[in-house]
Amino acid sequence: MGTVAVVIWMVFLCCCSAAQGQRRQLRFDGKTGEFRILQVADMHYADGKRTRCEDVFPQQMATCSDLNTTAFIRRLILAEKPDLIVFTGDNIFGFDATDAASSMNAALEPAVSSNIPWAAVLGNHDQESALSREGVMKHIVGMKNTLSQLNPPEAHVIDGYGNYNLEVHGVEGSSLANKSVLNLYFLDSGDYSNVPLIPGYDWIKPSQQLWFQRTSAKLQRSYLNKPEPQKGPAPGLAYFHIPLPEFANFDSSNFTGEKQEGISSASVNSGFFTTMVTAGDVKAVFTGHDHLNDFCGELTGIHLCYAGGFGYHAYGKAGWARRARMVVASLEKMDKGTWGAVKSIKTWKRLDDKHLTGIDGEVLWSKSSRQKRMLR
Ligand SMILES: *[C@@H]1O[C@H](CO)[C@@H](O)[C@H](O)[C@H]1NC(C)=O
Ligand SMILES: *[C@@H]1O[C@H](CO)[C@@H](O)[C@H](O)[C@H]1NC(C)=O
Ligand SMILES: *[C@@H]1O[C@H](CO)[C@@H](O)[C@H](O)[C@H]1NC(C)=O
Repeated sequence: MGTVAVVIWMVFLCCCSAAQGQRRQLRFDGKTGEFRILQVADMHYADGKRTRCEDVFPQQMATCSDLNTTAFIRRLILAEKPDLIVFTGDNIFGFDATDAASSMNAALEPAVSSNIPWAAVLGNHDQESALSREGVMKHIVGMKNTLSQLNPPEAHVIDGYGNYNLEVHGVEGSSLANKSVLNLYFLDSGDYSNVPLIPGYDWIKPSQQLWFQRTSAKLQRSYLNKPEPQKGPAPGLAYFHIPLPEFANFDSSNFTGEKQEGISSASVNSGFFTTMVTAGDVKAVFTGHDHLNDFCGELTGIHLCYAGGFGYHAYGKAGWARRARMVVASLEKMDKGTWGAVKSIKTWKRLDDKHLTGIDGEVLWSKSSRQKRMLR
């Protein structure tokens, strides 16, 4: 009996350490050929039930708290069944959070307990409580079910905390099972400029852009000798908090969604947009930060998209529902019922109303439009 118990205990220990040491490989679903990403921007979580909502109707105040933010994310997870949940910063509102770690745990709890892999980056408010940006990102990286990383191991010097990429592999058992067919880039867009002559928000620094360039080039090289279905570089998506100055290049004639406030980017242009256009693989960029903007517009082959404000303790607009953005990448169906490379990438938003109304569905990228563009 003693021996049996010891053996069971050893098996248990082995399984646990294996699960901890090995992060889950993201891959497309073999039944649907889809990979579904839920983006949650600007939860602004603080102390839970004690933290009141902002910008709801006066008669809603008494019953509204951070717990409404929690309820919204739980409902979305059930409705959309995402394969990955991405938190694009201002996950907590540091000034009002008594304890950064507890607030972060409470904010991210619906993702953690769903058992769905999740990834997060920092906004400009996450470090305003007891933890520094490094501290708060380290805390996130240590949480359960997360694929977030502090920084890439190969980049010896890089600005910020939480710059990393994730590969999404093809369907298990298909010829692309061990290849990344969708590349996700996560970057720390910082908080506020610390250059005295440059006021305002921070930007993505040359060290981060260099890491992005190298990573994108490495991923694209690894496709050169790949099997037939995957032609050209795999599409990429980038997630970070502060919008790029290029988000200001649109008006209602050429975006889908709404623009109800200015674009709060850095006051200087870091050139990251040009870096992405040059790299060639990124098809869309997803940010938060400006809660009243939720549009997507295309500039030079890259869609620039906001998610719209999610959290109830974040500024918003009474009567304009809190919202989230979904992105779904779909694989091409090949002969004999197998799955190939990514065929299209679609997006829509979900509102926190009775029926989680979906709005503004659009195709962000498709293989055929790429071919068309190349023919022209
Ligand atoms: C917040 O949640 C409470 C409890 O479920 C609910 O009664 C209230 O209507 C919600 N408020 C808003 C603004 O959604
Ligand atoms: C992918 O890797 C697994 C494990 O190493 C291997 O069994 C499988 O044959 C590989 N599949 C392809 C298509 O290369
Ligand atoms: C959108 O349209 C406006 C004119 O209404 C134009 O100034 C702007 O350059 C357009 N933006 C893009 C990205 O095409």
